[in-house]
Amino acid sequence: MPIPTTTLQPNKNNIVIESLGTQHNRTRFKCGISSLDDYIKKQAKQDVKRRISQVFIATEPASPGVIVGYYTLSSLSVELNNLPEALACKLPRHPIPAALIGRLAVSAHAQKNGIGKMLLVDAIKRTLAVSEEIAIYAVVVDAINEDAQSFYAQFGFTPLNTDRRLFLPLKSL
Ligand SMILES: CC(C)(COP(=O)(O)OP(=O)(O)OC[C@H]1O[C@@H](n2cnc3c(N)ncnc32)[C@H](O)[C@@H]1OP(=O)(O)O)[C@@H](O)C(=O)NCCC(=O)NCCS
Repeated sequence: MPIPTTTLQPNKNNIVIESLGTQHNRTRFKCGISSLDDYIKKQAKQDVKRRISQVFIATEPASPGVIVGYYTLSSLSVELNNLPEALACKLPRHPIPAALIGRLAVSAHAQKNGIGKMLLVDAIKRTLAVSEEIAIYAVVVDAINEDAQSFYAQFGFTPLNTDRRLFLPLKSL
């Protein structure tokens, strides 16, 4: 089944968000963090092929091959003891189903234009759509550093009891 494409307008520039394809030039992407640049160059295509992660790409319609941002989405089980006690005590004694935004990055020249926020909103919308058919308790994000943690915190993500992992219960949306 084809994965839907999203068209958005951050600060009045059109942005298309679609799954990674052969039209996307992965070699030129630079966001300022080499592991995130390397991922899109070297690993993303393999992860999609093996169904380890879905990778979504943001481009401008005028340059459909130029990647201005991306994020990855996969499924995850969160151990109950990684949730804050106040929440964990209300849940069944089983691992909790979640969606993981493992990586999210905007190319250095396109940052601070609202594209990071649009990628995050797009990931949450896609997760909400899937959760109509497969139960998902929360969206989890892996923040690569403290800056990334504060980026996610402003959207209501709070820390899990593991390093740099934050979560947002879908019912809070
Ligand atoms: C973090 C990152 C994704 C933000 O993308 P962006 O397109 O520059 O962010 P946006 O323009 O959408 O900003 C949305 C909001 O987040 C805020 N914000 C942006 N970067 C932030 C940061 N590092 N810390 C706190 N807030 C941040 C903006 O001020 C803006 O707030 P506003 O809506 O109140 O104006 C981008 O800087 C990036 O790719 N950095 C390198 C990789 C990285 O750190 N990825 C994070 C997850 S691993």
